[in-house]
Amino acid sequence: MRLTREQLQMLAGNYGPAIERALKIVVTLGGIYDAERLVPIESVQVAGVSFRNLGEAGLSFIQDWATDGARVRVPTTLNPAGMDMADWERMGISAHFAERQRATIEAYVSLGIKPTCTCTPYLVGNHPNYGANLAWSESSAVSFANSVIGARTNREGGPSALAAAICGYTAEYGLHLDHNRRATHRVQVDCPVREPFEYAALGYIVGREVRNGVPYFEGLPGTADVRLSPIERDRLKLLGAALAASGAVALYHVHGVTPEARAGLDLLSEECPTFVVDSLDPAIEALNAPIDTLDLVVIGCPHASLEEIRAVADILRGHTLRSTLWVTTSRAMRERAEQEGLVQTIEDAGGLVLADGCVVVAPMNETPYHTLATNSAKMAFYAPSHAGLQTRFGSLRACLEAAIRGQWTGEQEEPESR
Ligand code: F3S
Repeated sequence: MRLTREQLQMLAGNYGPAIERALKIVVTLGGIYDAERLVPIESVQVAGVSFRNLGEAGLSFIQDWATDGARVRVPTTLNPAGMDMADWERMGISAHFAERQRATIEAYVSLGIKPTCTCTPYLVGNHPNYGANLAWSESSAVSFANSVIGARTNREGGPSALAAAICGYTAEYGLHLDHNRRATHRVQVDCPVREPFEYAALGYIVGREVRNGVPYFEGLPGTADVRLSPIERDRLKLLGAALAASGAVALYHVHGVTPEARAGLDLLSEECPTFVVDSLDPAIEALNAPIDTLDLVVIGCPHASLEEIRAVADILRGHTLRSTLWVTTSRAMRERAEQEGLVQTIEDAGGLVLADGCVVVAPMNETPYHTLATNSAKMAFYAPSHAGLQTRFGSLRACLEAAIRGQWTGEQEEPESR
């Protein structure tokens, strides 16, 4: 690997032990993947934030790095925590967990990281430029950055993303290189896919098939404007999250929609196998446990946009909920929703708009919930194994109907505005 003089000095410890350690991690990874050089990065998204996943050992790892003088050299944002940092008691989280989670966030902040605690950093200020190199480590955010924005990042692990943030470089391999951004599969969509949860179902089916490949979708609605509408953006957010969950897809293209496909780049070769999707039923069947009574309904995986919160409020206005409803989002988005009166509308119905947290990484064993309904295929995929929740998957309308009745009815029709 060719290193610049600055990078060699970093490795020699001339920039201090923290940067030396960070660059060693990046160079080691680059060596494993035969990278020829390191490239500067524009931003970092760090996952591995919930104390449930990190534990004391993970927390000490971050604190030790901070004690060594580590500070991030590029704008760096944080993934969701295991709770709402302000409203954790209403989630049923214990005081002990809350205290350790707070210590974890403080450790990250001491490195200079913004405590955004969201998996949609691109909605709250960390919006990369087209073509920029990044080191992001949240699979749904990675998918969005690569596919919908056209930036370049591999699926980093939490420690490698942190190392990249501290030294300012990542190794140039994988999706940083043009030839790895070409499609591995042509996906022909031969069934109607319009509603957000249908995009999630499609992602689940295709992720299972292509694993860590790069699918190129044909047959999805195109877009006239180079700027996606919020509705189009939110559909792709759900598609990418599901692709990354059932498979390990970090980049996808949609004909006529995503920027590299619109740019007319040579992304498809004759040898690409074609995978035809003519029904979304396999996803509906795989992600629905046979449960009727629901304790908990969760909307906002990936974290809800303002438009998604608005759609929830529109459906709930005037209703009273029988099940617990959590709408999970970033704190910045929650504040905007509060200013619009949406939080009040949802809370008047009996729901909660929670910031900072994610059910999949929350200590759900501390809460009274056993069953869940969600419109996210990613959450429906992970909730049974990671959070011990039996799960229903369906449209926003079906999930909110379930929250109102306390029962799953399976009515899938979405509100027209979505
Ligand atoms: Fe975000 Fe958690 Fe879903 S990190 S994408 S809300 S599983």
